[in-house]
Amino acid sequence: MNGRELIVGVTGGIAAYKTAVLVSRLVQSGAGVSVVMTRAATRLVGPKTFEALTGRPVGVKTFGPLPHPHIELADKADLMCVAPATANILAKAACGLADDLLSTVLLSFDGPLVMAPAMNTKMWAKPSVQRNVAQLRADGVTLIEPEEGYLSCGARGPGRMASPETIYDVLTGLAAKLPDR
Ligand SMILES: Cc1cc2nc3c(=O)[nH]c(=O)nc-3n(C[C@H](O)[C@H](O)[C@H](O)COP(=O)(O)O)c2cc1C
Repeated sequence: MNGRELIVGVTGGIAAYKTAVLVSRLVQSGAGVSVVMTRAATRLVGPKTFEALTGRPVGVKTFGPLPHPHIELADKADLMCVAPATANILAKAACGLADDLLSTVLLSFDGPLVMAPAMNTKMWAKPSVQRNVAQLRADGVTLIEPEEGYLSCGARGPGRMASPETIYDVLTGLAAKLPDR
């Protein structure tokens, strides 16, 4: 990942703490990583964690200090990943909604996009969620299926975010296919 520029979007799922491991791994491999969090994500993991791991400010607000944060972030990135991806961000991305910084960056970015959904088994099984997943796949998004296992709500079944190692491997596979910078 040496010299690659990535945006990592973090949304409001408990698995957000695992994304710290993914971000650390990406930084250690030589990538420049900019993290964008939703407001819900900041309730679960502090932006300081990602700032410390990346050495960069974390984007949360569309109307922050930068003039066009969504464009500036999107223009310099080679790859984008959303992990965990909530049911909400899947729906917004499938419809093209842009009502916060992360969803606006998603619309502004035209490179390879990876999403790693995580949610309760019943949420994952909802026809609406599966429709959104199918739409995103049809739009060219690389969806990393959630794994089966213990969920933070106490249930067992499909819904756990794929491991940071799995997501990292998918990202390095996509990065290898990109032209040199
Ligand atoms: C403790 C807690 C854990 C949550 N975990 C998830 C989750 O894993 N997946 C999910 O889709 N929503 C989860 N939610 C609900 C989302 O946070 C909620 O739908 C929120 O509006 C998502 O906003 P965002 O997509 O902008 O981050 C959780 C909520 C709470 C309070």
